[in-house]
Amino acid sequence: MSVKVVIIGAGHGGVQAAASLREEGFEGEMVLISEENDLPYQKPPLSKGYLQGKQSEEAILFRSPHFFQNHQIDLRLGVNIAQLDTEGQFVITKEGETIDYTHLILATGATNRKLTMEGAADVLYLRTLADAKAIAHRLDTARKIAIIGGGFIGLELAALAQEKCKEVSVIEAQSRLMERVLPAVISDVFQKTHEECGVQVHLNALTKSIENHCIITKEGKKIEADLILAGIGVIPETSLAEEAGIACENGILVNEFQQTSVANIYAFGDCANHNNALAQKRLGWESVQKAVDQANTAVNRVLGKTQPYHAVPWFWTNQYHLKLQMAGISAGFDRYVLRGDVDADKFSVYYFQENRLIAVDSLNRPADHLNARKLLAAQISPTDAQIGDLNVNLNQLVG
Ligand code: APR
Repeated sequence: MSVKVVIIGAGHGGVQAAASLREEGFEGEMVLISEENDLPYQKPPLSKGYLQGKQSEEAILFRSPHFFQNHQIDLRLGVNIAQLDTEGQFVITKEGETIDYTHLILATGATNRKLTMEGAADVLYLRTLADAKAIAHRLDTARKIAIIGGGFIGLELAALAQEKCKEVSVIEAQSRLMERVLPAVISDVFQKTHEECGVQVHLNALTKSIENHCIITKEGKKIEADLILAGIGVIPETSLAEEAGIACENGILVNEFQQTSVANIYAFGDCANHNNALAQKRLGWESVQKAVDQANTAVNRVLGKTQPYHAVPWFWTNQYHLKLQMAGISAGFDRYVLRGDVDADKFSVYYFQENRLIAVDSLNRPADHLNARKLLAAQISPTDAQIGDLNVNLNQLVG
């Protein structure tokens, strides 16, 4: 019997899975489904090079249009899957077409959290290329831009709007920027830089309503803007899985082989929630590298191999001259050690939990980041003295 793999979602993980299946010699039928109309593209450049005008739409495509055809990948664009039948092993599109599968891969990603208060309908969000096009169009003419959410997306948008000489305000609910994942020593550098570049940063500020191009916060502040953007976090896209009875909890629950509670259905990337060996807990966080690594894990399983996912996750953000690279998951750290020069915006933070290195954030120190990935993968914890001494080459500890 011929084997057929259906992949729902053509983001980083979905496209990787399709390409890897062919690279690994899979000869069966393959369908790659995207609800978007655009050819599959990379997401990180949207809030960076693409909106800065430095990267074209073509430059951010994963593959040329011919790639999918040449590899017998049946790419279906603009197709929304409305239903999944795990017993019958088929999915049904919104238009009523039935597509059966032997293995189903859910690479459905995450959706933006949305504001619900009065006036919120005019707020723009960034997730897809279509979103980026809508923002690009409005950015050209807008003069005053307010961004709700001082997380990764909000701050990358703030930096690029500021570089386009706009008047920019950031409205953040917490007491620090990027507080969800970063310590004060890093948040403070980003706040200082944004403010020095002219961004108005409002902390501890919750939006109450939006009226006539004006944001009114709970504390009574009024922030005028002719374009309002928001980046207030994401929600894993689990609806299809949940309705089909697949176990979900803050994401689709998967084992170390990316299998869901139904063995021939796999999930990875932003929609999945897995038990991270490094952090020793279940985590659902967003990272392109995680999606790619997990896609390869799922592909191996589809092909009958058993290589569990234990890769070190890493991600990055670029804002002005600040390049922050994060390796591992710092959540749950009990202390950290610094390496480098905080005042020069060039340092790394090594996070420990019970004296075990669990993550390293590197600001403008790319070599530290590369070494950190090796240290974390090898589970080697340098001493405080080794970290603090710039003459010690941490790479040598890996052997
Ligand atoms: N008003 C103001 N700020 C808010 C509100 C609100 N109502 N709700 C949430 N926030 C703040 C949070 O405190 C947080 O600092 O918005 C910020 C959201 O930041 P992130 O959680 O980093 O989410 P976001 O920037 O949307 O990025 C989501 O997508 O592409 C990925 O890597 C990216 O992990 C990131 C994810």
